Amino acid sequence: MKPPSPAPINSSAGKPAAPEKIGAATGRQPVADRLATVAAGGQVPAEVHDLVRREPAVLEIDQFNLWYGTKQALHAVSMPIPHGKVTALVGPSGCGKSTLLRSVNRLNDLVPSVRISGDMRLNGDSIYDPRMDVIELRKRMGMVFQRPNPFPMSIYENVVYALRIDGESNRGVLDEVCETSLRGAALWDEVKDRLSDSALGLSGGQQQRLCIARAIAAEPEVLLLDEPCSALDPIATGKVEDLIQELRGRYSVLIVTHNMQQASRSSDYTAFMYLGRLIEYGPTPDIFTKPVLRETEAYVTGRFG
Ligand SMILES: Nc1ncnc2c1ncn2[C@@H]1O[C@H](COP(=O)(O)OP(=O)(O)OP(=O)(O)O)[C@@H](O)[C@H]1O
Ligand SMILES: [Mg+2]
Repeated sequence: MKPPSPAPINSSAGKPAAPEKIGAATGRQPVADRLATVAAGGQVPAEVHDLVRREPAVLEIDQFNLWYGTKQALHAVSMPIPHGKVTALVGPSGCGKSTLLRSVNRLNDLVPSVRISGDMRLNGDSIYDPRMDVIELRKRMGMVFQRPNPFPMSIYENVVYALRIDGESNRGVLDEVCETSLRGAALWDEVKDRLSDSALGLSGGQQQRLCIARAIAAEPEVLLLDEPCSALDPIATGKVEDLIQELRGRYSVLIVTHNMQQASRSSDYTAFMYLGRLIEYGPTPDIFTKPVLRETEAYVTGRFG
């Protein structure tokens, strides 16, 4: 079945609304509320800051649309994800953050009603090319979900899982990757004396760091984290946040979070989404202290959502 046509561009106004600078004395009347335009089914141009565009991209999302049956969940999303940086995706519940993340490693292929158009590229390789081997693609990415999902096996075997799948059996190699990954996930000191114990015996926060260790053991080109701290207490959250800080520079991370403090502390860039659209995307300090759009300011300061 052919997907329905994308929503008309800015159907209510006929042409895209010009960005309104907050804090700047523009002398203009306030422009039409972008969020109302979007809520009415229209499209507004995303405000993507120049600094984002100047970064080399590990991942490029290109005019990506996604439908669940007849309901469109992502509308012409275009955004580069900078290499070696932490990029936070924020926006109200249901705006499509998880859908976008799941689309990156084609987990949405498993949902029968899903249709897409547009593309994404991982280091230049088309993710939606029909010739793309999805199993190989997923090996190039790590994904960590809201609830930790350690496998029912030892801590050690969880971490080296990807290597085992690839047929690695050299104990020296496995031991080294296990230690490096657990150190990288700030978990080594807590588990080094119990590596053969079941991973299911770890606390929730430890399990989540184990899942991150398992993901980084495979040396992914991009690490996708979907609200990795939402099931954790404040202390465990602090540890995972510290870990994300440490991953900065070494890994390319795309993280979904509802926690504005977390986004502002842990990320280099922040993208604000609303009803399946990218609204504004820029360096995190700018998004939190001087966003271009007043809608972004309203969201990050907690005035809606
Ligand atoms: N499997 C599915 N089938 C049908 N609709 C879906 C499915 N998954 C998500 N949706 C819908 O797509 C939209 C985006 O959902 P998504 O889970 O991506 O939002 P989100 O931004 O991650 O929200 P939250 O912050 O609550 O996790 C919502 O309207 C949701 O109801
Ligand atoms: Mg979600």
